[in-house]
Amino acid sequence: MKELVVIERPNSSFGEEIKKTRTNLMFSNLDDDMKVIMITSSIPGEGKSFISANLAGAFAQADEKVLLVDCDLRKGRLKKIFNIPPEVKGLSDLLINKNWKHEYKSFINKTEVKDLDVVISGSYPPNPSELLSSNRFEELLGELRNDYKIIILDCPPIVGLNDAFVVAKKSDRCVLVANCQRASMEVLEKSKAELDKMDVKLAGIILNETEEQTDKYYYYGHYYRDE
Ligand SMILES: Nc1ncnc2c1ncn2[C@@H]1O[C@H](COP(=O)(O)OP(=O)(O)O)[C@@H](O)[C@H]1O
Ligand SMILES: [Mg+2]
Repeated sequence: MKELVVIERPNSSFGEEIKKTRTNLMFSNLDDDMKVIMITSSIPGEGKSFISANLAGAFAQADEKVLLVDCDLRKGRLKKIFNIPPEVKGLSDLLINKNWKHEYKSFINKTEVKDLDVVISGSYPPNPSELLSSNRFEELLGELRNDYKIIILDCPPIVGLNDAFVVAKKSDRCVLVANCQRASMEVLEKSKAELDKMDVKLAGIILNETEEQTDKYYYYGHYYRDE
């Protein structure tokens, strides 16, 4: 799990930054209505999965019971980050399962991190947006809300897809990951405007910049409250 920097190297600058983000999110939850947090970005490769996994790890370190769900049914990467074996089924398989209510617990994987469980994305479905907008997904999240303190949804990107918006309707907060080396400020502003239009509760924007350093995992993310 070398990408789980907050667990492997909690005192690195990235580890400290992601823990600050966790603390900011916890303190912004005054009404205690924040349970499902979705993570998205404008385009692929900005670091959604990396940030989702580390943020989930940071919550687990604070003794919160956390579930991380890979909602990127097209390009799910949590399976790789957590070394989950290829035969394990995931969210897409669960959402087409009529018996999901009795079986969903068997789709949840324990990880090496205490208090951190993961659902991977599953077989590539022909209709990802439909699955994500289904009532069944809503009901599933309803069950999971009872079982976990925090649920983090690693989502597809915004540009060109409807997926992030359909998941936004089911989430309590959204965190936008922005990597200015990959996506322009203009694209970021457009994505933010789209989220605002959809009435998404934006908790903050994480600037995920990769610093040129010899050690691949000295990176940092900044966190800004959207106020
Ligand atoms: N802050 C970071 N520090 C180090 N590597 C990062 C960071 N953010 C992203 N990466 C790396 O960049 C690549 C793309 O990240 P990923 O999380 O898969 O993006 P996305 O989910 O947005 O498509 C991965 O190899 C990931 O390990
Ligand atoms: Mg991803």
